[in-house]
Amino acid sequence: MGNINKPGIESAENAPVNVEQPGIFQSQKTSNGKLYALITGASRGLGKAFTVELAKRNINVLLVALPKDGLPELCHGLSADHRIECDYFEADFTRPGDIDEMVRWATGNYRINILINNAGMGGSREFELAEKDYLDNMISLNIRALTLITHQLLPELRSHKNSYILNVASMASFSPIGYKTIYPASKAFVLYFSRGLSEELKGSGVSVSVVYPGPMKTNKYVTKRIIKQGIYGRIGLLEPEYVACRSIDLMFRRKSHIILGWLNRLSWLFMKTVPTWIRLPAITKRVKRELTASK
Ligand SMILES: NC(=O)c1ccc[n+]([C@@H]2O[C@H](COP(=O)([O-])OP(=O)(O)OC[C@H]3O[C@@H](n4cnc5c(N)ncnc54)[C@H](OP(=O)(O)O)[C@@H]3O)[C@@H](O)[C@H]2O)c1
Repeated sequence: MGNINKPGIESAENAPVNVEQPGIFQSQKTSNGKLYALITGASRGLGKAFTVELAKRNINVLLVALPKDGLPELCHGLSADHRIECDYFEADFTRPGDIDEMVRWATGNYRINILINNAGMGGSREFELAEKDYLDNMISLNIRALTLITHQLLPELRSHKNSYILNVASMASFSPIGYKTIYPASKAFVLYFSRGLSEELKGSGVSVSVVYPGPMKTNKYVTKRIIKQGIYGRIGLLEPEYVACRSIDLMFRRKSHIILGWLNRLSWLFMKTVPTWIRLPAITKRVKRELTASK
């Protein structure tokens, strides 16, 4: 359920939102017309790094993540440390109703000129053994939510002279991978969707950038995997703070295609030039070995 901590928000479709904590945020549609950046998956990992980076640049932020994951505290800290305005919305994007509620809250109360579609999930599983919910959630979050949020926020973004969309894909966008199947396919969707939309919106004032991070130690699960992979895990490894900072720089320069770090660029070249029949079994074998070792 969105915004469970803030009574009154669910019913306030186009009304300003009431807050108990002074200074945390102002309703921009009714106050001074300041602009905001909306970040999905803002509570931790790369999304948190994006949020902190924007706050450091004195950009007001709207944070979205799953309920009960520290958003109020993060929001409070950011507004106190950086003198920016901040608000949050708790939503589970695997539930279709939550996307609509979040968009109503955001567009009903704020002027938004930056959208960072960061929320996403990954993982390695044998396809036949994967639970139905796991597959469904990954498709819903990585593809459906990103598409619908972009679609529904576009009129708001278009209403400003300069607006920016930054979608988070992955280096996995560039190759199919056995035992990951849905994840690279969903990130290839993000790549094609973003590049297509970028072309469609040329000259509109809204640019679309897509970033393809390599491995980042963002959470316990990913960190454990990266360590286990040894040398392979370290190829292209970057700090989320660096990825966030450089991606935002390049987003403001309206770059449509963002690959960071020379090892990731080399890896991209490898995936572009080595034929799938060589590359696919090689990468799949490595993931399979990793899965077997973790059993
Ligand atoms: N880490 C890597 O090595 C890596 C590499 C390439 C690409 N990426 C991409 O980078 C992005 C961020 O990854 P990360 O590693 O920072 O992930 P993370 O640490 O797992 O954080 C994911 C974020 O998404 C939010 N989220 C998860 N499920 C959600 C749902 N159903 N509804 C709403 N929000 C949800 C989480 O909210 P809660 O905190 O509330 O759970 C969290 O804020 C993802 O798109 C990922 O695919 C990551």
